[in-house]
Amino acid sequence: MQFIRQIGGLATLLMLTAGCSNNAPAPAEKTNAAQSAPSPQSRIERGKYMVTVGGCNDCHTPKKIGPNGPEPDMTKELSGNPATDRLAPVPAGLIAPDKYLTVVNNHLGAWVGPWGVSFAMNLTSDKATGLGSWTEEMFVTALRSGKHQGTGRPILPPMPWYWYRNMTDEDLKSIFAYLQSLPPINNPIPDPLPPDKIPR
Ligand code: HEC
Repeated sequence: MQFIRQIGGLATLLMLTAGCSNNAPAPAEKTNAAQSAPSPQSRIERGKYMVTVGGCNDCHTPKKIGPNGPEPDMTKELSGNPATDRLAPVPAGLIAPDKYLTVVNNHLGAWVGPWGVSFAMNLTSDKATGLGSWTEEMFVTALRSGKHQGTGRPILPPMPWYWYRNMTDEDLKSIFAYLQSLPPINNPIPDPLPPDKIPR
């Protein structure tokens, strides 16, 4: 016990010395912050868990055909609706403002409904086509407010931000940390189409 106290005292002394030399924040604050904020690695792990149980892959990961039918193609994890996928014409009369009917492509990535057509976003760290240039604040505000990038147009169905907004700040930040750790995949996602531009 005595030994540990001595070591502790020595560490404090060293930190104080370091703090004096470069005007760093008080050593006590440094220690507390290090204890309460999770390490980057544990945030990424938590984020992976949240993304897995939160079902993000259902819509944001392209599908391939496996032994039991379509399954997420994890080599393209969370890269959004494939840009090469052409939307099939939607038969007239299926979609109308007063109908709940929704049509979706094979990847569960392009959704046609009374709102028009929405395309599941590329969530990888790609700077040009994914979330690589987003800040943590933009991400958290987008999922909390339901506004594109936190300040823009309303985020369209079926992105279930109104459920995800109930996550804690720490969980949302963990998801963002995990998404930023994904390898960048270049897959440009088109802007949504208004109802009169639904392919017929
Ligand atoms: C049921 C399908 C579905 C699920 C499940 C889903 N998304 Fe989405 N998401 C979408 C669609 C579609 C869009 C595009 C909406 C638009 O263009 O307005 C989108 C957009 C987004 C955006 C962009 C928001 C913006 O600012 O424009 C982010 C970020 C996002 N999703 C993250 C997630 C995360 C993280 C999860 C899991 C926790 C998730 N999504 C689960 C369908 C889904």
